[in-house]
Amino acid sequence: MQIHDTIAGLRTALKGAGRISFVPTMGNLHEGHIALMRQAQAHGDTVVSSLFVNRLQFGPKEDFDTYPRTFDADCEKMAAVGVAHLFSPGEKEMYPTPQAYHVQPDPAQADILEGEFRPGFFRGVATVVMKLFSAVQPQVAIFGKKDYQQLMIIRNMVRQFALPIEIIPGDTVRAEDGLALSSRNGYLSEAERAEAPRLYRAMDKVRQAILAGERDLARLEQGAMLELRASGWIPQYVAVRKQLDLQLPAAHDSGLVVLGAALLGSTRLIDNLEV
Ligand code: PAF
Repeated sequence: MQIHDTIAGLRTALKGAGRISFVPTMGNLHEGHIALMRQAQAHGDTVVSSLFVNRLQFGPKEDFDTYPRTFDADCEKMAAVGVAHLFSPGEKEMYPTPQAYHVQPDPAQADILEGEFRPGFFRGVATVVMKLFSAVQPQVAIFGKKDYQQLMIIRNMVRQFALPIEIIPGDTVRAEDGLALSSRNGYLSEAERAEAPRLYRAMDKVRQAILAGERDLARLEQGAMLELRASGWIPQYVAVRKQLDLQLPAAHDSGLVVLGAALLGSTRLIDNLEV
């Protein structure tokens, strides 16, 4: 695997690479990332990944400084799964001067759910992804459904800017007990790790109830929040939305998704389940 820390070096190396299939990451790879990289193999001639912890998408009180940085282990995993090129720029390469131009996603999609609790998060994500797309110039990019709202916003960004990139969703990978794999799971203590699958179970109850015909979605959402609160969590939202645009569903809409975010101790976990 070739490692590039400049945009110019990356672009030179990718000349003649054929159809480029791209998986952007912030590192600290787990099986969820690896699955996206495997998926990428099937969609292009050359798999390119990136590793960049993007300051722009962290709030002032969030974990930018402590976000796990595991470069050597990440490189080994990427090479083993067939990533041909890794773009891992330093901060100076990505933001040589303070980033003054941003991609501002539609507030109707970016200021709800995650965006309500992480103001500016999707602006930071969309801006860095646009810049990564410009550096890598992929034909295909794979984004995990674990970050459901991110996937929707990137898809819409690509459509609205007519970028010639196919966005492919990757399924969420779960531990045996249902917990969605996430780099932030590493923050959990042993006791919290044992408790963590409750988020998935509470959301799955909502999903099962909808499948069984329950249409009082507000009651289901509140039930899940109450269950989490009773077990010591601080739930931020459990919400049933339309898969397409994450807006509130009308009475008989199908194609729904249950989304949730909650704090367990100081660790913020998110999950979602399509119905
Ligand atoms: O999902 C992530 O890991 C990040 O948000 C991304 C897409 C790499 C942008 O920094």
